[in-house]
Amino acid sequence: MSLVFRNFPKYLGCRLKECKVMEFTKAILVTGGAGFIGNHVIRLFSKKYPNYLLVNADALTYAGNLENLQDVEHASNYVFERLDITDEKGVAEVFGKYEISDVIHLAAESHVDRSIENPLEFLKTNVLGTGILLNQAKKSWGNVNGHKFYHVSTDEVYGSLGSIGLFTEETSYDPRSPYSASKASSDHLVRAYFHTFKLPIVISNCSNNYGPYQFPEKLIPLVINNIIKKKALPVYGDGTNVRDWLWVEDHATAIDTIFHHGKLGETYNIGGENELQNIELVRILCKIVDEKLGRPKGSAEKTITFVTDRKGHDQRYAIDASKIIGELGWKPSTQPIDGMAKTVEWYLKNTPWLEHVTSGDYQKYYEQQYKQSAK
Ligand code: NAD
Ligand code: DAU
Repeated sequence: MSLVFRNFPKYLGCRLKECKVMEFTKAILVTGGAGFIGNHVIRLFSKKYPNYLLVNADALTYAGNLENLQDVEHASNYVFERLDITDEKGVAEVFGKYEISDVIHLAAESHVDRSIENPLEFLKTNVLGTGILLNQAKKSWGNVNGHKFYHVSTDEVYGSLGSIGLFTEETSYDPRSPYSASKASSDHLVRAYFHTFKLPIVISNCSNNYGPYQFPEKLIPLVINNIIKKKALPVYGDGTNVRDWLWVEDHATAIDTIFHHGKLGETYNIGGENELQNIELVRILCKIVDEKLGRPKGSAEKTITFVTDRKGHDQRYAIDASKIIGELGWKPSTQPIDGMAKTVEWYLKNTPWLEHVTSGDYQKYYEQQYKQSAK
């Protein structure tokens, strides 16, 4: 049985000139849709599923930016609601207003360094906010079939690996930063709602994403931005920490696959099978940016600066993605060398976007975070 939403034009008002009755088979609440991964998920779903209504609910924190969705904002199956997921009443109103049938939950405080400075903000959004959404989904959906609450999580919940081994879905949780502890708590809550209340949930835990629209507090866009500006490139510790990099659009297709075909109550790991040491990655970026800017070979690399390590810095993350590949047929499409080149090109082409997001508060954040001198 498909769900039909006839009330929608009432809320869309006259933004849609034709004001025809739209029949949507799903009304999906995408939380955090104005963030880095969220905008790619909305873009993919909006184009691929014209019969789904996508309700982007985002508080527009420093990390959320509607400029990320300029090409989607006029789509007839997209609406934006400024909403803080810790606002219980606001969440209830949005569920009621759009008859929300499904949730793809991405909204979170997502930067590890900020969680070290301000852990409580992470508990509030990532744990309480997730709890409020779960509770509202439970109230709105009761025991009716056909709904789904998809919780987007991270590989950081599994802790830190040595030089060998991979995180599987069976790996015990061992979060080590306030960020990963808050995401682990939210994962546990989501599973608790499945076991206790039979809420139809699914969870994915993904490795490091990269690509267009990532806020330049994260390593890759920070390094690209600093090379453009001829600023020092801060590498934490000795640079040997390893991350498994995934092209962000591949994460969006994995979310699409799991949303439609994932088994309720299950967890799926998503990864790029692209492990790189931070220092290797930074050197690759230096080479690509220098080439694209026509600067002499080696000029960016000279500015690499080893700085004091992140507190509790996890050594290595690496994902075993065989479950999603074997059971659901998803696989990453983009090799890191191509992905890194596309990423650099995007940032070089979109300098106004970079300028906007790095003005104001970003400067204060940057000065505070990197006030330490080189090691
Ligand atoms: P992001 O920081 O770029 O975006 C987060 C979005 O959530 C922003 O638009 C922000 O405005 C919004 N938000 C924050 N607090 C909110 C609140 N209280 N109410 C409503 N909206 C709020 O993050 P991202 O990198 O896009 O990550 C999205 C999700 O994916 C997160 O849950 C993160 O844990 C998870 N994840 C990220 C990665 C990665 O590499 N970036 C990897 C695996 C999992
Ligand atoms: O693994 C998934 C996670 O990946 C997501 O859950 C997080 O939301 C996302 O932020 C990311 O976390 P990381 O801490 O791995 O990403 P970040 O880009 O902050 O750092 C990547 C690596 O680079 C990490 O080992 C720390 C290091 N680093 C980072 C910064 C910002 C530096 O050496 N210098 C820097 O200036």
